[in-house]
Amino acid sequence: MPLTRRKFLADGTAAMAGIGAASLPFAPYEILAATTNDGFLELTAGETRKRLVSDQHPASTLWTYEGSNPGPQIRARRNERNRVRLTNRLPEPTSIHWHGIRIENSMDGVPGLTQDAVLPGQSFDYDFVVPDTGTYWYHAHTRTWNQVARGLYGVLIVEDDEEIFDRKHDMVLVLDDWRLGQDGKLDVLSLGSAVDWSHEGRIGNLLTVNGRQPREYELNASEPYRLRLINASNARSFEIDPKSFGAKVIAFDGQATPGAQDLAYSPMLLGPAQRVDLVVIPRPGRNFSLNELSDGQNYPLARFRVAGDKRPASENISLVPNPIPEPDIESASTFRLHMKGGAMGGQIGDATYNGQPLRGDDFVNFRQFWTLNGTASLPEKPFFRVGRNQSVIIEVFNDTNFLHAMHAHGHHFRVIERVGIDIDEGMPWRDTFMIGPGQTTRIAFVADNPGKWLFHCHMLEHAAAGMTTWFEVL
Ligand code: C2O
Ligand code: CU
Repeated sequence: MPLTRRKFLADGTAAMAGIGAASLPFAPYEILAATTNDGFLELTAGETRKRLVSDQHPASTLWTYEGSNPGPQIRARRNERNRVRLTNRLPEPTSIHWHGIRIENSMDGVPGLTQDAVLPGQSFDYDFVVPDTGTYWYHAHTRTWNQVARGLYGVLIVEDDEEIFDRKHDMVLVLDDWRLGQDGKLDVLSLGSAVDWSHEGRIGNLLTVNGRQPREYELNASEPYRLRLINASNARSFEIDPKSFGAKVIAFDGQATPGAQDLAYSPMLLGPAQRVDLVVIPRPGRNFSLNELSDGQNYPLARFRVAGDKRPASENISLVPNPIPEPDIESASTFRLHMKGGAMGGQIGDATYNGQPLRGDDFVNFRQFWTLNGTASLPEKPFFRVGRNQSVIIEVFNDTNFLHAMHAHGHHFRVIERVGIDIDEGMPWRDTFMIGPGQTTRIAFVADNPGKWLFHCHMLEHAAAGMTTWFEVL
């Protein structure tokens, strides 16, 4: 059963261009980061001119890593140490968060909690081990709503010593949603719009895949392909139907499902920051496309032309699970989180911000429209504090009229219960879960990673407008 349906493309002025006729041999973006003499991958954040729509349209000024959107694809090995040098050539401070990585706290990239933001002209060296294989991404985590909307993100793939799919059968598709103005350029004036912050976040009118217009790819019949879908948009949830072309799920948010699974319901929602890995075995003569279906539309994100007529290969593909500790539900401590606020009749009630009560015009002046347990934005005291290796259940109640995508830093959790709805995917490991209006969801994990970790909505305007808290593992 779908979590919820939502209305979409509210902007109406969909500037989406059609798909070009040329079909490409399978061509994922493969820009790998360059390495310095001292062994660091370089990620320089700076301004880049880029045409988002077509050569006939004006260029926009994006913010990128190494001049590309998405930023360089980093391919790492499980348990390998990664050194990345971030250099800031932006007009404002920045930092990088390695989304979904069970990382050492000091490398998590959250200014005010785990590091100081990197000032313009300065550098910061990230040095961390990646314990789990899978599909991850990295993105700016300072004024995130602004920096990610302008293009500051890239892909991080962690490989096992032996991978089932070779590079020709391993396809990364980063989905993004941009808002262009009348002039066809990235609309920067509306960044920070109070309407976006109090409603469903910044929804755009141009979809890109790997930073460009959707296009056609050529696949060989009967060979299994891995499609790694990553939603890098600020606030859009994509509604996709992988079942329509026979794809099965092999991972959510980087973590293997037990075997290749049929989706329990379809279409499915892919929320901001979420990933899903699919396996698809193209049938001879059966071209197909991956479409964004929200709001009754049918917009092709990628078209696949199937070449050859070989007979099918085996469908029995499963990834090796990562060693994430199982929470002990019996002994777990439960912490409740009450989400409030937003427009459309959401009642925020008594709210605290920076230790002061919010009243009257404060909501608009400080652009704080949402609370978690009555506090807008980071509370001084953590949402909870637990000893290391304690099993934890977080019970989240969405008392707003909007869909949210809640993300925990530093840990993966199992979604153990959605009140009133079966979890058809079988309690998957995730780092980001969707929660619809009026729903209650319980997640469980072992708090085994010491430090201070954010827990926030990954609709980036919601996070900035109050929906951010933190917990501490001692
Ligand atoms: Cu990908 Cu705190 O976020
Ligand atoms: Cu939200």
